[in-house]
Amino acid sequence: MKRNKKTASQTHRLSTAQVVLRITRDSMSIAHWLALATLLSIGSAYLAMTAPEILGSLTNQIYDLIDKGVPMDMQVFVGGVIVLAALYLLSALLGSLTTAVMNYSVSNFFTCRLRIRMSRKIEKISVGTVDNTPNGEIISRMTNDVSIMGNSIHDIFGVIINGVIRLIMITVIIFTEDPSMAVAVIVFVPLSLVLSAILATKSEKHFNESRTYSGKLYTLCEEDLTCFDAVKTFSIEDSQNAKYRALAKKYADHTEKGNFVSGLVGPVVGLINNISYVAICIIGAYLVIAGQLDVGVLVAFIMYTKLFSSPLESIANGMSMIQSTVASARRVYDYLDTDEMVEAEPAKSLSVKGAVDFIDVCFSYVENKPLIESFNLHVDAGQKVAIVGPTGGGKTTVVNMLMRFYDPRSGRILVDGKDISKMNRASVREIFGMVLQDTMLFSGSIYDNIAYGKDTATREEVEAAAKWAHIDDFIDSLAEGYDTEINEDSTNISAGQKQLLTIARAYLANRPVLILDEATSNVDTRTELLIQKTMDELMRGRTAFVIAHRLSTIENADVILVVDNGHIVEQGNHAELLKNGGLYAKIYNSQYPEM
Ligand SMILES: Nc1ncnc2c1ncn2[C@@H]1O[C@H](COP(=O)(O)OP(=O)(O)OP(=O)(O)O)[C@@H](O)[C@H]1O
Ligand SMILES: [Mg+2]
Repeated sequence: MKRNKKTASQTHRLSTAQVVLRITRDSMSIAHWLALATLLSIGSAYLAMTAPEILGSLTNQIYDLIDKGVPMDMQVFVGGVIVLAALYLLSALLGSLTTAVMNYSVSNFFTCRLRIRMSRKIEKISVGTVDNTPNGEIISRMTNDVSIMGNSIHDIFGVIINGVIRLIMITVIIFTEDPSMAVAVIVFVPLSLVLSAILATKSEKHFNESRTYSGKLYTLCEEDLTCFDAVKTFSIEDSQNAKYRALAKKYADHTEKGNFVSGLVGPVVGLINNISYVAICIIGAYLVIAGQLDVGVLVAFIMYTKLFSSPLESIANGMSMIQSTVASARRVYDYLDTDEMVEAEPAKSLSVKGAVDFIDVCFSYVENKPLIESFNLHVDAGQKVAIVGPTGGGKTTVVNMLMRFYDPRSGRILVDGKDISKMNRASVREIFGMVLQDTMLFSGSIYDNIAYGKDTATREEVEAAAKWAHIDDFIDSLAEGYDTEINEDSTNISAGQKQLLTIARAYLANRPVLILDEATSNVDTRTELLIQKTMDELMRGRTAFVIAHRLSTIENADVILVVDNGHIVEQGNHAELLKNGGLYAKIYNSQYPEM
């Protein structure tokens, strides 16, 4: 059964500055790689920067030959050409190396670690948070958003480091060559940067929206797949498709707008740069004609102006990429910041007898909507407690609290007199062997699924457990027996068989307290009767909480609790409750009218 999940899952929102700070902090783990990439980038930029100077001197030689008839020293000229070619080649090589280093370090040590942190986080967040967050939302953050972050951080570092280095180098070179010409080249730089910053901020809004819709798309997709049968049965493909189309349209719309605005950055910077390019050509030509400037210097400056545009565009593009990355990174960090469950003590094995007390326990899933109020119960070690009552009455909720899937809002639950809220959750769960209402099998073999109950289980023990749960005949009938793989959604095995496997698992786990929530609800009556006997054997000497709708299975319980609307409305053994003629008697008589 799938619980209704809220779509909104956001608890906090980090500011852009905070997100950038977090990315920077996380990048510190690859600081040495970034330093290496920076060095390589400086090398590549330096080599590319020295090229215009050589090109300028070569142009001067040609100009002198044509204009003034000065003979050219071919050896020097050819040498210059070779050096020029070598410089460009080496610069390209260092540039590629920079990309390789960035690629290697970001994918292996940034993105990969982030993914591991995110997957570890799942173990630390509460069942309630997971229940209330759509799966698709978490999946989209763990896959899509991390990928976007990884890819763009790689690019952003690359372009910004490279851009800044080149910009600084060219600035130094042009100012040493000819300060007044240099001023003409850089006069438009602030304008470019301010305009690109404005555009970048405008695009962030759209990128945030686009990521939100991407999360919703994942959620809908996940829902379609998990509820595949229901979608087909009720023929709601069209309405699901309409929902999908609407979301996809919104996603495309915001992505397009974000990309459009951030895509304007390049052309705007290019335009401004071209204006300064034209200015340099005109001023330079005038100065050359006036005999105040060498043609070679002019050629070099025209080249520098062109060279100047590419790092500027890089930085501007880097800035607009940051916006898209921040939108994803914010979702990743918001998820990583989700409140974690606090453990009072480290996990340890507890040996318990199995006495359980509920003292004034109040609980609600939703704030201000009380479900369980002043729940009191004492169970002696070894007793069999049955919880019965109408659907939605709160039976599974009692078990959820006992296992610490959810903690009571007030009151205490004690096991052997010790408050379980003060124990480690893993230790608490080790006390219980359980067969839950939502039968859960993992993808893996049948053998593995039974053996999950006990780390050290031997083949014989696993087979004995299967035999005990009356599932051995079925397993033996399979071509691959115990090695049969259970598929992702456990659809290659029937609902009753699933329950029997989880019963075998619980048997193997051999825990001091048993929880059976509708453990045999999907099993045929004959098998149920067979299991009932063996299950009673298992329960002998152990505390057991048994939830059942078929009351014949719990008649022999020491205490029967009748739970309705979160309250224990009746309590006693079978005979007493029948005699009382209350809700229990009513349910019982409706099930077994002849008695
Ligand atoms: N995760 C949840 N978030 C919000 N409400 C919940 C959640 N789980 C259960 N509820 C609500 O709490 C109430 C009690 O649910 P519970 O699962 O304990 O019923 P139950 O007695 O086990 O019913 P059933 O016999 O159908 O298994 C129901 O009204 C249900 O809608
Ligand atoms: Mg239930």
